[in-house]
Amino acid sequence: MNNYFLKALNQENEAPYIPVWLLRQAGRYMPEYREVRSQYKDFFEMIKKPEICKELTLQPLNAFDLDAAITFTDILTIPDALGLKVNFVKGKGPIFEKSLSSMDKLDLNTNEFHDKIQYVYSATSLIKENVNVPLIGFTGSPWTLFVYMFYGQSPKDFKSIQSYISENSRDAERYLQILTDCCIEYAKRQVQHGADCIQIFDSWAGILENNYVDFSLKYVNQIYEALNGEVPLILYNRGKLLSTFIHESSFKAYSINSSDQIENYIDEDITIQGNLNPDFFKKNEEEIKLKVHEIFTKFKDRKNYIFNVGEGLTPDLDPEKIKIFLKTLRSLNSQ
Ligand code: CP3
Repeated sequence: MNNYFLKALNQENEAPYIPVWLLRQAGRYMPEYREVRSQYKDFFEMIKKPEICKELTLQPLNAFDLDAAITFTDILTIPDALGLKVNFVKGKGPIFEKSLSSMDKLDLNTNEFHDKIQYVYSATSLIKENVNVPLIGFTGSPWTLFVYMFYGQSPKDFKSIQSYISENSRDAERYLQILTDCCIEYAKRQVQHGADCIQIFDSWAGILENNYVDFSLKYVNQIYEALNGEVPLILYNRGKLLSTFIHESSFKAYSINSSDQIENYIDEDITIQGNLNPDFFKKNEEEIKLKVHEIFTKFKDRKNYIFNVGEGLTPDLDPEKIKIFLKTLRSLNSQ
């Protein structure tokens, strides 16, 4: 197995090789993905088939030279398995049948959770048998999952959840703890089925202000502590400058978004991935090649750097541009 990614996570990558994978490396920008996707009306119907998850996970690995695979699934598998029924509506994103903004309280069905989410574990085993790079499993952070469960969709305003958590902090904490326990078991079972690393997506961290530690970081730290020693864990975050919180966080690896500053982290005793704005892949070939040289010169001697984008690849990107980027990076790596 190509181990560069795991070595960089442990801060022991031997230069000069920069491991790379891309957030949302499988998805609608790839014609192969759109072909499979067109056969399913419902996104969840598709991801509940382990064979299809395997095929979709392998698509970017077959198209590009990447150093890690990420299980093809979604963070919303957890609320779906807790009984909130999630549908993906074209042009609108996820829509939940039940949410806290339309009901007084949510009955979360934790008894059947693992049976209902078993398809992710089956997909993980199947994918693991078919990849020769490390496999990343993942979960949403308790806070980010709670945001979807509150709004029943992607949040449009931030005010109502902010007033909910200040007026009903005990209820919010109870939901967050239930979600944390689910995330821990979910991550552990992905590891038992072959995941080599777990990434936690805190995509809505930015909604929180001075209460970020109490409503989010505290819970992701619990996930870290529960899995520490089993596999490396990466914290992905959007909208919070993690450099400010690094001493309150247990994590040793961070995936940072494109509005953050990589220079604030790179000399710390941690691993950093991410930061490039995916819109960069819209630039012309010359500009892309120049950027690769810049990245290579800056990071080739780092034992703790993983190349990635700061936000997921978007459907409007041209796979050819990504290929040019990766080919150029690889040619420098092997010199
Ligand atoms: O290769 C990969 O990285 C794909 C696996 C993956 C998906 N979602 C598949 C997906 C991963 C790692 C995710 C994470 C995810 N899902 C996050 C965290 C990362 C981030 O972007 O902040 C979040 C917030 C979600 C929730 C989600 N899933 C939304 C809001 C949507 C709708 C918006 C959209 O991008 O379409 C999804 C759907 C989804 N998840 C798609 C894919 C490929 C597109 C669905 C389709 O094909 O119709």
